Amino acid sequence: MKIGIVGMGAFSDDFVKLFTLHPDVEEVVVADLDETRVQKAMEKHHIKRGYTSYEELLEKADDVDSIAIFTQRHLHGPMIVKALKAGKHVYSAVPIGCTLEEIEEIVKLAGETRQIYMMGETCYYYPCAIYCREKYATGEMGKFVYGESQYYHDICEMYGDYQRSGGERWRRVAGIPPMFYPTHSISMLFSAINEHAVKVSCMGYRDNHEDDIFGEDKNNWANPFSNETAIFQMSGGGIARINEFRRVGINKPSSYITCFYGEKGAYECSITNHSYQRGIASGEEPYVEDVGPLVNTIDYNEDLKNGTMDMSKDPISIKYIQGPAKIQDYSRLPKSFRETVSRNHYNSHPFLVDDFVRAVKTGKLPPNNAWESARYMIPGLIAHESALRGGELLDVPDLGDAPVDWEKLTFEPYEE
Ligand SMILES: NC(=O)c1ccc[n+]([C@@H]2O[C@H](COP(=O)([O-])OP(=O)(O)OC[C@H]3O[C@@H](n4cnc5c(N)ncnc54)[C@H](O)[C@@H]3O)[C@@H](O)[C@H]2O)c1
Repeated sequence: MKIGIVGMGAFSDDFVKLFTLHPDVEEVVVADLDETRVQKAMEKHHIKRGYTSYEELLEKADDVDSIAIFTQRHLHGPMIVKALKAGKHVYSAVPIGCTLEEIEEIVKLAGETRQIYMMGETCYYYPCAIYCREKYATGEMGKFVYGESQYYHDICEMYGDYQRSGGERWRRVAGIPPMFYPTHSISMLFSAINEHAVKVSCMGYRDNHEDDIFGEDKNNWANPFSNETAIFQMSGGGIARINEFRRVGINKPSSYITCFYGEKGAYECSITNHSYQRGIASGEEPYVEDVGPLVNTIDYNEDLKNGTMDMSKDPISIKYIQGPAKIQDYSRLPKSFRETVSRNHYNSHPFLVDDFVRAVKTGKLPPNNAWESARYMIPGLIAHESALRGGELLDVPDLGDAPVDWEKLTFEPYEE
């Protein structure tokens, strides 16, 4: 496969590297509006073809069969539609799109053309999400009753991320409604229970900070809220509480499941404390188990075991809340990926790139496909509408399951 990667900002660098290293990728070409970013990426990753816009890449590199989109978050929807219409398979960073119409069109195109669309949802491969998904699938936890997950990311002026590509008017984009970027928090919980949202009530924190990011006249979405809290009624009857905060005094981790309760068992987390508990209804002796050895990063567990953790200096060091964890299945990755641990986002990037390449190669449906991505994103769009209406209870539209005759991707180890 040949892939065109669009957007050479801060996030794509690791993905350019991984696509270049994957044994089933023949060529990577890149594009950005900023020529210096294109040059830098080409030199660093030994890339032969670079372009100064998405349109130019589509036109001049029409031999690429796949596109990966890493432009700013509000630009994805129309770019994905364009690539699908041009007959390409598409990977995009989160989110899939920022309007219901965009997402409906992507789902329709994916269904009609059977081209792959996959959203690169890093949190799908976060250790806590894998733990809850796998544990819940055993049936041991009983039916899902309630869960809480969140994505906390303070985007105050000091943070600087939106200034990088937004110029003087960066606030117009930084003020995007928090629930227009809900896929990290939602995917962790919803993918574990394999249900979708049917109703939502959401409250917004009206932000009056002097940095002027949030407010009806201050951003492109007339969004007054920096923080939003939504309560979803799920299709199986359970309840999910989702927080999306953009002004909050927290460091890390930024995305995590706080609690996940079934009728018989539960997972709870507080930073690096992860427990699994069995209740009396399980029919067995109730107990609490420390599942940190599986869910915490390997670095954390090793330093804990060796007594080399200096809590006075660095209580929760970045190395303890990034990087790989034992629960992730490395044996399925190609050799070149197993040798290249990417610390960012709990080493989720290699799994995402490998999912997409396998899907393109086999034509099978990957996780985080168009239908699942729609179910991670649309609830947030409706939640924001509810917040604007003071918490009014609203129905969440559902675009349904992926076609039943589309075989799902499996993850046999590579023969290398
Ligand atoms: N954990 C995660 O999943 C995660 C983390 C970080 C970022 N992201 C997502 O990754 C994406 C990129 O984030 P970033 O921080 O690198 O952004 P960035 O602003 O650093 O980079 C975006 C780049 O896209 C380029 N671009 C915009 N329109 C273009 C066009 N038409 N043609 C070619 N290039 C174009 C810009 O010039 C810029 O260089 C965002 O959507 C963000 O939400 C996801």
